Amino acid sequence: MSTNIAGKVIVITGASSGFGEAAARLLSAEGASVVLGARRADRIQSLATELSGRGGKALAVTTDVTRREQVKNLVDAAVKAYGRIDVMINNAGLMPQALLERLQIDEWDRMIDVNLKGVLYGIAAALPHMQRQKSGHFINVSSVAGHKVGPGSAVYAATKFGVRALSEGLRQEVKPYNIRTTIISPGAVATELPNSVTDPAAAERIRKFYGEVAIPADSFARAAAYAIGEPDDVDVNEIVFRPTRQEL
Ligand SMILES: NC(=O)c1ccc[n+]([C@@H]2O[C@H](COP(=O)([O-])OP(=O)(O)OC[C@H]3O[C@@H](n4cnc5c(N)ncnc54)[C@H](OP(=O)(O)O)[C@@H]3O)[C@@H](O)[C@H]2O)c1
Repeated sequence: MSTNIAGKVIVITGASSGFGEAAARLLSAEGASVVLGARRADRIQSLATELSGRGGKALAVTTDVTRREQVKNLVDAAVKAYGRIDVMINNAGLMPQALLERLQIDEWDRMIDVNLKGVLYGIAAALPHMQRQKSGHFINVSSVAGHKVGPGSAVYAATKFGVRALSEGLRQEVKPYNIRTTIISPGAVATELPNSVTDPAAAERIRKFYGEVAIPADSFARAAAYAIGEPDDVDVNEIVFRPTRQEL
């Protein structure tokens, strides 16, 4: 059965670990050309080499999503190498949770810069190409924290609620250009994300929680592949998934 993935050009931010890496592996195996962005150049380069060695098309472009010119360069490199961009997966993010009273203001800034402005820079970089093509697909990574707030997650949740708001606005605005938009909101998945927590109390709580419930990162890859693989006239707008064991 055709999956509508083979031959697509897919740009992925945050491709050096976790969701981005898992998505790159699955989508490459399904025949997509993948363009990998992240700051850790060695990681994305060795992933691109591995995928190319298996007969796939893969390109690594060192990218900090807080730098809008670097995100534009990532997308432009994809179009230069492969002639178009079919899917932009705005995935890069971090989750340094802590109570607001801890005043981790630098971390608040960082979450807004990466989780929210990074997604906007991804939209800015890819939208003109997709408008010209009259086709495309944005996948923006939110979270269960984009639906629910808890103590310690206020700023992270604010960025992830924000991702959902701007994705829905984008969805409505891009109708003339035949562009699809998907929000993916995962629950607890085993990646390097908990490493971004610096507050000791929050780190311990999250380590315990993830240790009890987290599922593997290929869960995200399959969700992305489902949305991409649907026929072009089907726009999968939102996917929320959790580990079966996760309550909230
Ligand atoms: N794992 C979960 O339970 C979970 C649940 C819901 C939502 N999410 C979301 O899923 C997304 C991916 O996270 P993950 O779980 O896969 O965690 P991860 O393994 O820590 O991956 C995060 C990725 O983001 C990249 N990144 C961070 N800052 C960046 C920057 N300034 N510029 C470019 N890339 C940057 C990292 O690459 P470099 O460090 O190499 O730049 C890394 O590839 C995030 O948006 C996260 O909020 C995760």
